[in-house]
Amino acid sequence: MTAPPAASPAAPTLVLDGVAKSFGPVVALRSGSLTLRPGSVHALIGENGAGKSTLVKIIAGLYQRDAGTFEYLGEPVDFTTTAESKDAGIAVIYQEPTLFPDLSVTENVFMGRQPTMSFGRIDKKAMRDEVVSLFEQLGVHVDPDRPTRGLSIADQQLVEIAKAMSLDAKVLVMDEPTAALSGVEVERLFSVARALRDEGRAILFISHRFDEVFDLCDTVTVMRDGEYISTSAIADTTVDQLVRQMVGRDVTDLFPKVVAPVGDVLLKVEGLTRTGVFHDVSFEVRAGEIVALAGLVGAGRSEIARAAFGVDPYDSGTVTVAGKPLPGGDPTKAMSRGLALIPEDRRRQGAVLDSGIARNVTLTIRDRLTRFGVLTNAAENASAREWAARFEVRAPSLDTLAGTLSGGNQQKVVIAKWLATEPSVLIVDEPTRGIDVGTKSEVHRLLSDLAGQGLAILMISSELPEVLGMADRVLVVHEGRITANLTREEATPEAVMHAATHSLEETR
Ligand SMILES: Nc1ncnc2c1ncn2[C@@H]1O[C@H](COP(=O)(O)OP(=O)(O)OP(=O)(O)O)[C@@H](O)[C@H]1O
Ligand SMILES: [Mg+2]
Repeated sequence: MTAPPAASPAAPTLVLDGVAKSFGPVVALRSGSLTLRPGSVHALIGENGAGKSTLVKIIAGLYQRDAGTFEYLGEPVDFTTTAESKDAGIAVIYQEPTLFPDLSVTENVFMGRQPTMSFGRIDKKAMRDEVVSLFEQLGVHVDPDRPTRGLSIADQQLVEIAKAMSLDAKVLVMDEPTAALSGVEVERLFSVARALRDEGRAILFISHRFDEVFDLCDTVTVMRDGEYISTSAIADTTVDQLVRQMVGRDVTDLFPKVVAPVGDVLLKVEGLTRTGVFHDVSFEVRAGEIVALAGLVGAGRSEIARAAFGVDPYDSGTVTVAGKPLPGGDPTKAMSRGLALIPEDRRRQGAVLDSGIARNVTLTIRDRLTRFGVLTNAAENASAREWAARFEVRAPSLDTLAGTLSGGNQQKVVIAKWLATEPSVLIVDEPTRGIDVGTKSEVHRLLSDLAGQGLAILMISSELPEVLGMADRVLVVHEGRITANLTREEATPEAVMHAATHSLEETR
């Protein structure tokens, strides 16, 4: 087997060739190959379940490979623990945060390698000082003394990044680090990554977002079904070429929009206000309609959705579902009235990682599947099988623990779980974040189908192509206010971006 072609002449820092890994009958990685060079930011892309995270875990010494070669700094290596790879200068930020909730932020950054003074005492002050200086570089505002429990996903991710940076590593691996970060945080992370690159470190960056890959990386490796497909210089490739290599076929229509007949108003929000968060928000969503809430990250879109569903409070205004007012702050009531909210942070608010897929999917509909007080495995499996198939959840069986699924497949399980409640009004927050291109069009088709069946759909999305491709109407939110209500025809990229970046007065 030959190594991937060289993209730049510098001697490689790390070379994997023909690396394989199975878990019982599941082949997670068939033949992974990767060459990382100093001073380069290398992207690793592929569909959900392609084996990217498995490759990362082998580099980290968390998993041991079954076959293939692994060279680091010109020498063959076998890392049997994560401590060994860390000591050798490889820092890894995993897709799922791995912080200890009860330890302080500082203790987490230094986990397993506390600096000692003479007589073996741990130098607490040195640790804290270093964390403060790392946070300054990263522009992070987190108290170094607080426990990490309760930190937002974005802050946890930033702590992980600080932890990786404190290692002074030769290789930095980031597995979907941006999935939970806002635009400003992503920019900050990228400037740190570029600085590390300029110091001659090798960086591996995994993302499903092509704009990020093209913005940050110089080289890109594509994987498909556990196998190495190609390595190219970013300058020599295009999104279309990469997509074709990822899915092994042409993806022609990413957004198969079907305009459905529009019926009654199913969701009506009037004058909804939460002081300091959003103000005087009014809109309607009709049966058969997909209405997008567009805007910049932090504009207040998720907050509006959460308040309408009842998980967050609001100060004034009304929410009406199918003509009946919905009391605020009561998500159980909202669900019984046919409302469903698929949250943005699906990893934390969604999947029960130590339960099987079937159990997860049917979690929200256990009452309905129960006959004469008994919920049979057969009923659970039948319902779950249908949903897992619709979403192409890639797993050996319905008993597979959600925790062992690839990140994207976990998300599909959570979406399926909410759709299984058969809502009449569906609110989806960033429906395709963390989902690969192939499945993305599946999710879009599904949303389109659901609208066709008469659901009213409110879709929050930060991806402009998704908004423009999917929505019948686009509401643009800027600093907690709706600044535009555009029809499909009116919703040009310029119109949406203008409303997203200007106040109501400025747009008039
Ligand atoms: N510990 C494990 N036990 C069983 N199967 C596993 C385990 N880890 C990974 N797999 C399986 O191996 C395959 C590859 O998973 P991996 O997490 O590497 O994918 P990925 O490319 O990172 O996907 P994503 O983009 O969704 O994060 C998946 O089918 C996954 O279910
Ligand atoms: Mg992954």
